[in-house]
Amino acid sequence: MEENVVPHNFSITQAERSALKNHGAFLIWFTGLSGSGKSTIANVLEKELISQNIHTYLLDGDNVRKGLNNNLSFSPEDRSENIRRIAEVSNLMVDAGLVVLASFVSPYREDRENVKRIVGYDNFVEIFVNTPIEECERRDVKGLYEKARAGEIKNFTGVNAPYEAPMAPDIEIDTTMVSVDAAVAIILKTIKKKLKGN
Ligand code: PPS
Repeated sequence: MEENVVPHNFSITQAERSALKNHGAFLIWFTGLSGSGKSTIANVLEKELISQNIHTYLLDGDNVRKGLNNNLSFSPEDRSENIRRIAEVSNLMVDAGLVVLASFVSPYREDRENVKRIVGYDNFVEIFVNTPIEECERRDVKGLYEKARAGEIKNFTGVNAPYEAPMAPDIEIDTTMVSVDAAVAIILKTIKKKLKGN
């Protein structure tokens, strides 16, 4: 299908778009179990970045699955396709000069590797929100763990579907040990150079 598709060489480069913004463009990827605190941290981080005049966009599992990916289930194949599409969208946004925050369970190592390949290794920061499942289940903000334990949700990550932990994330946060503000401070320190475009 792709054989007759010939990309056009447009004149404006990513660097030129980024130069308009006075900051680097890259993807901050949050991975972890449902209820681990990914979206909470991403939300506070985005507020902080916006207050620093950094142009951001936040992509989040529940939101993207209501729109762009509303035809995808939680089977391993559909999760891969979910993550692939999000990577491609993130890549376009990074190309447009934005700092993209993406908060997805993304339980498969190979899928996360694919994200890195798509956006480029230098444009990718991986944050493993490693909150123990006991705590995620205790919080059970959406009542999904209870449903999964009752057999009402199949393929629920951590209960009856796997989560493959990152081997070497850029940052690892256990929200039972670190507050949201402290987590955001750690992330800001880590991305400082990238924000300057280095
Ligand atoms: S994935 O695995 O990356 O494709 O998942 P994602 O797109 O991030 O969607 C996760 C949110 O969907 C809800 N949900 C489930 N999560 C995991 N497994 C199953 N089976 C499932 N069914 C629904 C859940 O609310 C997740 O949101 P978060 O914000 O992670 O709690």
